[in-house]
Amino acid sequence: MTIRHFLTLHDLSTDEIHQVIDLAIELKAAHREGRQEPVFAGKVLGMIFEKSSTRTRVSFEAGMAQLGGDALFLSPNDTQLGRGEPIEDSARVISRMVDIVMIRTFGHDKIEKFAEYSKVPVINALTDQFHPCQLLADIQTFVEHRGSIQGKTVAWIGDGNNMCQSWINAAMLLDFNLNIACPISYEPDVELLARAGKRINVTNDPVVAVTGAHLVTTDVFASMGQEEEQEERLKHFANYQVNHQLIGHAAADVLFMHCLPAHRDEEVSAELFEDEKFSVVWDEAENRLHAQKALMVFLLGASQ
Ligand code: CP
Ligand code: NVA
Repeated sequence: MTIRHFLTLHDLSTDEIHQVIDLAIELKAAHREGRQEPVFAGKVLGMIFEKSSTRTRVSFEAGMAQLGGDALFLSPNDTQLGRGEPIEDSARVISRMVDIVMIRTFGHDKIEKFAEYSKVPVINALTDQFHPCQLLADIQTFVEHRGSIQGKTVAWIGDGNNMCQSWINAAMLLDFNLNIACPISYEPDVELLARAGKRINVTNDPVVAVTGAHLVTTDVFASMGQEEEQEERLKHFANYQVNHQLIGHAAADVLFMHCLPAHRDEEVSAELFEDEKFSVVWDEAENRLHAQKALMVFLLGASQ
């Protein structure tokens, strides 16, 4: 049996990403029109969360329920995972009881190890290195508002974090230009950048990155697990706020996205965040639901 995991965007081909996005758009329409099929009847999703979540938990849990399946919330506080049971043992046990698993954790190696021992598809619901589910929702959102992202220019402003690194993967697979503006020593992984090649431009100047961009996106300066660095990071990122002045350098029809949760007046001005001429953050958040339903349909279908 072939098992298809989704640990990074590279676990899907370009064609498969397009297929998932098209299905997400179709499932969104079906949901709105009340014509959903219970395609997950009898299926159970195991959801392992080692970090907090609102969007990811609600979207996966609601998505399973809407398509006739069930979801189990598994926290390290009340499972043996939190008491040191090895990942390879947990993976072999859990994957004999559920049909698909999503994991939010710290090191990417943990999710790779779980997948290695799992008998069912494993989805990365955020690691310190990547957040590929968010990218599916973001691409869906761009397509819905502006059409194909191929050949467009995306500007990432801020930390070279899990979201930034997922945008790098997306640029490689979907053939768009990505301008990244980060403070010195907050750049994304150098090996990933080397693999990505000429599509990616890294600068320390947000204006350079945003110039001509069709989409500007950012994220918190301190991610989960970096809370103690918050004050220090605020100093280094002082010139990296996305606001109306900055996006004045972008294309006239530029969109603004943020994976959320957002810190108003830190990485994005409150005015821009709330300005629906540019900001599509609520569509982006909603699309987590539709994109992940489509992803699960794809992975379960392809793993037969
Ligand atoms: N964007 C995102 O993953 O949000 P949560 O942390 O609330 O799941
Ligand atoms: N970079 C953020 C994303 C949250 C969805 C974090 O890892 O905390």
